[in-house]
Amino acid sequence: MFIEITNLKKSYETGEVVTEVLKGVSMTLNKGEIGVILGPSGSGKSTLLNIIGGIDRSDAGKVLVDSEDITTLKDDKLTDYRRDKIGFIFQFYNLIPNLTVGENIEVVSNISDKPLNTDEVLKAVGMLEKKYRFPKELSGGEQQRVAIARAVVKNPKLLLCDEPTGALDFTTSREILKLLQKVNKEFGTTILMITHNGAISDMANKVFKVRSGEIVEQFENEVILPAERIEW
Ligand SMILES: Nc1ncnc2c1ncn2[C@@H]1O[C@H](COP(=O)(O)OP(=O)(O)OP(=O)(O)O)[C@@H](O)[C@H]1O
Ligand SMILES: [Mg+2]
Repeated sequence: MFIEITNLKKSYETGEVVTEVLKGVSMTLNKGEIGVILGPSGSGKSTLLNIIGGIDRSDAGKVLVDSEDITTLKDDKLTDYRRDKIGFIFQFYNLIPNLTVGENIEVVSNISDKPLNTDEVLKAVGMLEKKYRFPKELSGGEQQRVAIARAVVKNPKLLLCDEPTGALDFTTSREILKLLQKVNKEFGTTILMITHNGAISDMANKVFKVRSGEIVEQFENEVILPAERIEW
């Protein structure tokens, strides 16, 4: 088991009001698998992913990633964990505007232990010829490809994607999904991805349906669909 979560709880306090966002989530994902988290807006998907990625803290429960319980880590160890093991892809690319494509990748590879080669990763996402462009000179899909390259260059064990295709059209979304499937195959990267789009679950080994802070359904796919055959 690569991810093993037991009875995870999280509440947010705003003024006098306490909102329970995760109400005892338990889930597992094997190494090298793709997991998809589906659920309506506000159901707690990003909160869950952020806790797994060490960006946010839980109130109770266990989160084992690669045999390490990250809920007990001190802040500096949690930073190490994020740097060494996690690649994060957001819905809105978060590229640094005044750095070129190549430089956006290198800010990450420079601080990594065993980074992949920048040009190789840019080639894999089809962006090598645009290495010297700035983010504003790219389309949305191209920016997301650079964001994927940036998350992948440090060769993370776990790639977390929060609606990576949320801002993209169908054709571009499918290109991005193909790319994630390729990364999963070529580098053996475990991937956990949030989406609103039920069709995307066909390319996952395991699907988790979240509603109001709980996993209400989960299943494994016997057949994994290649991303190029996903339709919506
Ligand atoms: N920092 C915060 N402070 C207070 N409430 C928060 C905070 N972050 C999230 N919430 C609340 O927690 C709930 C779950 O938020 P979360 O972002 O996890 O949802 P989500 O499933 O990712 O939704 P979406 O699909 O819209 O991105 C929401 O009701 C949100 O308002
Ligand atoms: Mg979200």
